Amino acid sequence: MLVSAKDMLVKAEQGHYGVGQFNINNLEWTKSILLTAQELESPVILGVSEGAGKYMCGYKTVVGMVNGMLEELNITVPVALHLDHGTFEGSKKCIQAGFSSIMFDGSALPFEENLAKTKELVHCCDILGISLEAEVGSIGGEEDGVIGAGECADPNECKTINDLGVTMLAAGIGNIHGKYPDNWAGLSFETLEAIRAVTGHTPLVLHGGTGIPDDQVKKAISMGVAKVNVNTECQWAFCDATRAYIEAGKDKEGKGFDPRKLLAPGAEAIKATVKEKMEMFGSVGKA
Ligand code: 13P
Repeated sequence: MLVSAKDMLVKAEQGHYGVGQFNINNLEWTKSILLTAQELESPVILGVSEGAGKYMCGYKTVVGMVNGMLEELNITVPVALHLDHGTFEGSKKCIQAGFSSIMFDGSALPFEENLAKTKELVHCCDILGISLEAEVGSIGGEEDGVIGAGECADPNECKTINDLGVTMLAAGIGNIHGKYPDNWAGLSFETLEAIRAVTGHTPLVLHGGTGIPDDQVKKAISMGVAKVNVNTECQWAFCDATRAYIEAGKDKEGKGFDPRKLLAPGAEAIKATVKEKMEMFGSVGKA
C-alpha cells in the first residue's frame, strides 16, 4: 500500500539520512526502483512530473501500475507516490487519482498566490493524510520546459510557507535540475543554514540531485535535508545502456528483435544508479 512520505521523512530528518525521490517514466523504470528499494530495505519516493504522468497515460494509470507492482512484487518497504513540481490543477488531479504525496510548485507565482494556494492544499492534504511539499525560490535548470536559474530562496518566505504546516519544503540553495555548468558555485550552505534556522525540524528537500558532488549532498543531509531528488542521472543511465545494447548489435542476435531484452540493460542500469544513491544518502536498512 502506498504511504504518505511524512513518516519516512520525519525519521530521516531525525536520523540524519536522506530518502531518495527517483522520478519514473515507464514500467521498467518503476519496477527497477521498487525492487532495489526492497532489496536494500530502504524507503523510497517515486516522483512523477506532469509530463511523465501524461506520457504514462495519466495519473490514474500511474496509480494503478504502482499499486499493482507493490502487490505483485511483494514490496513491503514504505513507498510514496509523489507528484513532482505540480501545478495547482495537477495537484488536485493527483489527489483524486490516489497519489500519496504531492508537490505543489508555486515558486513561479507571485509569493502571495503561492502562499494562498499552498494553504488550500495543506488543508486538503491534511484531511486525506497525504504529504505535501511546497517550493520557495525557483530551482534552476529545466523541468518540463520551465527554466530557472539556481536561485537562493528567501528564508523569510520559507518561514511563512513552512508555518502553513507543509510536510516538507523545497528551497533553492543554488541547486539546478540536470547538468551543472562548469562554473557552478556549489550549494549555498549559508542559505541552507538560514532556512533551517527558521523552519525548525521540517524536512528539507534537495532538488537537482544529479551532478552535485557527494560531499555536498552529504553535508546538506547533515544540515536538515531529508529528501533528495534524482531524475537526470537515471535518464542517462537508462539511455546509455540501451544505446550500448543497440550499438553492440545485440538487438539483432538470436531470434531477432525482442523489446523486453532491449529494455533490460536500461532497467539494470537504473537499479545500479538507485543503489549507489541510496547508499550515499544513508537510507539503506532504514525501512
Ligand atoms: P535532476 O534531474 O537534476 O536529478 O533533478 C531531479 C529533480 O529535482 C526532480 O524534481
